[in-house]
Amino acid sequence: MPIAIWSSRFETGIPVIDQQHQALFDAVNKLADSFKSGTASAQVKASMDFLVKYTVEHFQTEEKFMKEMGYPKLSSHMAEHAQLVAKAKDLQGRLAEGKPVTVEVTAFLADWLKHHINEVDMGYVEFAKAKAREKA
Ligand SMILES: [Fe+2]
Ligand SMILES: [Fe+2]
Repeated sequence: MPIAIWSSRFETGIPVIDQQHQALFDAVNKLADSFKSGTASAQVKASMDFLVKYTVEHFQTEEKFMKEMGYPKLSSHMAEHAQLVAKAKDLQGRLAEGKPVTVEVTAFLADWLKHHINEVDMGYVEFAKAKAREKA
């Protein structure tokens, strides 16, 4: 059973964002799976490396989008992104030093992702839709 299950309530209606969010769900599930081979295995490290890289890319996409449309809550949104990146990089660092990381981190990451999409990302989605309506 995957830990991060995609559902329509996470859909923003913005194709590039939905695609990236789904890929993040996949990356979290892959990380959870990789724990089957040990808490500090090469698979866990590789999955965590990918997750960090992809998360940073996704956040860059969103931040560029929010800046371009003059989203007023940009700075608090960016602060949430920065916190998660710091946490993920800390986990990545622990693994690089050969320290084990527990499988619970995947539940944390899955919960963070779901919360962030529904409570925080949806803020700029609504703003973008309102802007598009104004122009119409
Ligand atoms: Fe997002
Ligand atoms: Fe975000």
